[in-house]
Amino acid sequence: MEGITLKEKIAQSAATIGQRLQGRTPEVGIILGSGLGPLAEQIEDPIYVPFGEVPFMGTSSCTGHVGRFVCGTLGGKCVLTMQGRLHGYEGYTAQQVAYPVWVMNALGIQTLITTNAAGAINESYRVGDFCIMTDQINFTGRNPIVGMEPDQISFRFFSMLDAFDPSLRALAQGIADREGIRAQQGVYLGLLGPSFETPAEIRAFRIWGADTVAMSVCEEVIAARHVGMRVLGMSLCSNMACGVENASPNDAEVFEVAEARSADFCKLVTLIVAEM
Ligand code: HPA
Repeated sequence: MEGITLKEKIAQSAATIGQRLQGRTPEVGIILGSGLGPLAEQIEDPIYVPFGEVPFMGTSSCTGHVGRFVCGTLGGKCVLTMQGRLHGYEGYTAQQVAYPVWVMNALGIQTLITTNAAGAINESYRVGDFCIMTDQINFTGRNPIVGMEPDQISFRFFSMLDAFDPSLRALAQGIADREGIRAQQGVYLGLLGPSFETPAEIRAFRIWGADTVAMSVCEEVIAARHVGMRVLGMSLCSNMACGVENASPNDAEVFEVAEARSADFCKLVTLIVAEM
């Protein structure tokens, strides 16, 4: 399909998903991170659209990322969830990682909740805490708005002040406090991966002001802000970052903690969607 523009591709992807949704109009987009996919199982009347059936979409290759859109009702609202995401470390470009966010927006979605499992750099955090993102440090070295085509979707020079919507952050914190779920607020730092960080890198990131670290989210948030979506970012602290309390993160631990915290994660996100 040489010659077709990014904007046209997004429109075609959105049309394909739209046709499958039987007239539903999702209001909220939710991206589920490593081990956090079980939330999709709580969606009522689900319609599944595998990434592979959407033209121009990449597919998820990693464990814990099913790789499909799930549309249905959560917290009384129509949501479109990505059960699994695309990562730079799978070989996707920044634009490919951001692509489904633009597609969500083309479907009329104005609010994005993006979630992941992350390592805690902040020593006052505990494994199992949630962390509402207050800001991000994009240390992937990439940006999805690079190139001529994203500028045709929306103007390329946009502010990243309050990239994470202050009122959504306050809502999330209020619900967590009310429900007795430990939730921190902190700065998220995103890397390309896939190797975990060294202790020296973690010490450097702490000096920069980062509280959590992982290998996703930043490019999605940039794409969402590019088209004016409101964003809530939330991590589950699945481990202390490398070298903190002698931690040496591994994939198995991330999934174990995600599974253990799944019930609170589902409760928190469902209530946030209900009350937003
Ligand atoms: N580092 C990077 N990515 C991660 C981590 C981590 O400690 N935990 C979960 N994803």
